[in-house]
Amino acid sequence: MNTNAEASELDVEDVGELKYSRTVDDLPGPKGLPFFGNQLQMRGQQWHLKLAKFIREFGPIYRLNAFGIPIVVVSDRAAISSLLKERPDGFERNRGLRARMNELKVGGVFTAEGDDWRKQRKLVMGGLSFDVIHNFFPTMGDMTERMLQRWKAALASGKPVDLRRDLKALALDIIVGIAMGYDLGVVNDDDNQLQHNLDNLLERLASRGTALYPYWHHFKLPVDHAADKSATDVEQTVLGFITSTRERLKQQPHLRDKPANMLEAMIVASEDPDSDFTDQELISNAIASVVGGIDTTANSIAWMINMLAKNPDAAAKLTAEVDAVLGDAPLSREWEQMKQLPYLDAVHNETQRLRSATPFLGFISKNDSVILDTFIPKGMVIFVPTNFGDGLDDAHFPQHELFQPERWIFEQKPHRDDDPSRKVFPFGGGARLCPGRFLALTEIKVVVSMIMRNFELEFDTGAPPVLQVMNFFMGPSAVPVRLKSRV
Ligand code: HEM
Repeated sequence: MNTNAEASELDVEDVGELKYSRTVDDLPGPKGLPFFGNQLQMRGQQWHLKLAKFIREFGPIYRLNAFGIPIVVVSDRAAISSLLKERPDGFERNRGLRARMNELKVGGVFTAEGDDWRKQRKLVMGGLSFDVIHNFFPTMGDMTERMLQRWKAALASGKPVDLRRDLKALALDIIVGIAMGYDLGVVNDDDNQLQHNLDNLLERLASRGTALYPYWHHFKLPVDHAADKSATDVEQTVLGFITSTRERLKQQPHLRDKPANMLEAMIVASEDPDSDFTDQELISNAIASVVGGIDTTANSIAWMINMLAKNPDAAAKLTAEVDAVLGDAPLSREWEQMKQLPYLDAVHNETQRLRSATPFLGFISKNDSVILDTFIPKGMVIFVPTNFGDGLDDAHFPQHELFQPERWIFEQKPHRDDDPSRKVFPFGGGARLCPGRFLALTEIKVVVSMIMRNFELEFDTGAPPVLQVMNFFMGPSAVPVRLKSRV
């Protein structure tokens, strides 16, 4: 990648075809400690905010040091765009993250590279296609209605609703439903073994991500043994789902033409004589999709509810839109309605701009390259923000700290350079753009429109401040919002 137009001027080094005027050592960056470098600053549950603060301090490209190993943080929009596009050949995913995910058997396409990635990506894209999501839509409605009934019953009996817990439970039901064709029913009963195992894996993943040293490679604590057991159990459970799905497809061959979940679609694809997908690939990608689809979506909805409750004007506009589209129905059961909620889309975009569930992505350069006039050697670790670059810059979003969904509403399609959707990357970009994006957007619309159609949101002003907490994915520390029945 050579994003540097001025590099042909004086003081320019020239390695092969690469032109640049500085190296990583010349970059600005925060002062670190002897031996640790900046490693201690990158720990904790708010490390993303520290990296974001350094963007304001040191500019669009800066250097960190983790135990003497340099890391480059790039927040320039054009540079991020071209880096994302140059995958899988120019850049690969951060190796530490890949290793941690593969050790717990939750990698799938997320951790694959090169031709292996191309193959698995095809499998996953087929499993999360428009048709599969469309066919699953009625089930998503049933699961959302179950949540609505639970909330109505709780309010009728004067019980509080724990939105943080319930939104995660609903996201889990929906993602396991579409990925594996199985109804966990966690919304009403959170004592399911598969749920415990998935929770266990996500918790270990988060905790290993901030460990100073991968001790579990040398000795294992009881939590590590428990995580290994969970990984094996989840694998066995999914293998069981594959066997029962194959049986169902045999008994009801018409389902092959209308797969309503990922496993059905992936099994049909794997039976094509030209494909060589293995059961292991089906299993690991069903699991990777579940892991990638729970907290990302649940956290995004939780942030949206927090934002709406704190911004009653935006909440009122959204309620009016939802009422007009849904009419008397308590929730959306019509696929076409998904295209009729522009303000809801805007609320989602504005929330992702302010509170990205995946605020930083990590990569490794596979070749020598130049980014922003800086020589980046092969093997360099690079972090890019998904929202903290232009997304939180007054030059691009005036009064950037304010929640203003109107920023995303236009009379006419904006010019490329003014298009806000080109300034943030909540779903990544290029060939590795999140394959669950369309599912997530559909789910967010079904769930949030149900909430606005049935409830008023009341922010608990006496609650402690809501923190941005990194737990592998970034979510709110709480959702201090009371639901009040509208009908
Ligand atoms: C609001 C919800 C979501 C957000 C914010 C989100 C965000 C992301 C981001 C930033 C990436 C990295 C993309 C890149 O490297 O360019 C990603 C990748 C991925 N996501 Fe999502 N995601 C969401 C929902 C989902 C869902 C629902 C699923 C599964 C059904 C999913 C499955 C995946 C997978 C498998 C990858 C790896 C793709 C690859 O490496 O080719 N995500 N997601």
